Amino acid sequence: MIRSAIIGCGSYTPEKVMKNSDFEGVVETSDEWIVQRTGIRERHIAADGETTADLGEKAARAALDDAGITVDDLDLIICATSTPNNTFPATAVEIQNRLGMHHGAAFDSQAVCSGFVFALTTADQYIKTGQAKRVLVIGAETFSRLLDWSDRSTCVLFGDGAGAVVVEGVEGEGSSADRGILTCHLRSDGAHKEKLYVDGGPSTTGTVGHLRMQGREVFRHAVGMITDVIEAAYAATGLSSADLDWFVPHQANRRIIDASARKLDIADEKVVITVDRHGNTSAASIPLALCEAVRDGRIKRGDLVLLEAMGGGFTWGAILLRW
Ligand code: ACO
Repeated sequence: MIRSAIIGCGSYTPEKVMKNSDFEGVVETSDEWIVQRTGIRERHIAADGETTADLGEKAARAALDDAGITVDDLDLIICATSTPNNTFPATAVEIQNRLGMHHGAAFDSQAVCSGFVFALTTADQYIKTGQAKRVLVIGAETFSRLLDWSDRSTCVLFGDGAGAVVVEGVEGEGSSADRGILTCHLRSDGAHKEKLYVDGGPSTTGTVGHLRMQGREVFRHAVGMITDVIEAAYAATGLSSADLDWFVPHQANRRIIDASARKLDIADEKVVITVDRHGNTSAASIPLALCEAVRDGRIKRGDLVLLEAMGGGFTWGAILLRW
């Protein structure tokens, strides 16, 4: 059986760092409020003129280097983003061109904060069906461009960044000991749109719009939705939290991460946390956290890794993989 194994990863965050204290004077808030409610201390913000494709390209090049391959070895690029450079063409196609790749295909995946989980699941289907041998999956965002900087309940939560992985088809035996993606579970339910959405778009206002969120409502649904898809991943594989080596959740809010880990009985020391330094980078948050834990030696070959995300729409999903 063909499995999709991650053979390289890379990430990039813009140089400019905005600390919580930098919001004082912009909106009525404090470092103490932000840290206590979210766990966020600072986030990276793209420079003027620095775009999602710029961040994504840098992460992509790092992932290709880490995998020891070139674009000639790729069949497909999928970029998860809700902050594309242009309404079209897809940011993935722009990155494909910048990388000098003129074969194969590239497209964007739009599932907001769950975007990377949706994109990696899509890559897994291409690989398992033999449609692609190697896929570059990128999560890249400039969420700072969607924020209403006068709304203190949202502008303190988000940041900019990009992460990327190279996924390759490898032979497996069909058991949970195989290297690669073991199972993927995606969900969405548009009934929740008003709780987290952007109030603009080409077909409605003709403007980009701003992010609007009912934070308490998002919080109320998040833990239940996250645990449902993770339990589905456990049921599909016969694995459980006890078997996990690392939990790499979407980095939206420390309290959501802690509550989900507690409900699932995942020990604190198995949870990878970057939200304190990155804020919520939407589709970039999981590959940023994953790459950090791989680079610093925490995630090693053979480890069982659980990825999970939930975001606007609502969309949510989980992936269980063996590194
Ligand atoms: N600084 C100071 N006070 C603030 C701030 C701020 N930055 N933002 C809101 N407040 C105030 C509110 O105005 C309100 O004041 P009031 O009582 O005078 O009206 C008070 O704090 C409480 O507001 P709540 O919204 O009820 O605060 P809550 O405890 O729910 O925390 C938060 C808000 C952090 C947004 C929380 O609801 C949350 O984490 N929700 C999850 C949202 C999330 O993570 N979204 C990310 C995208 S979705 C995803 O990726 C999963």
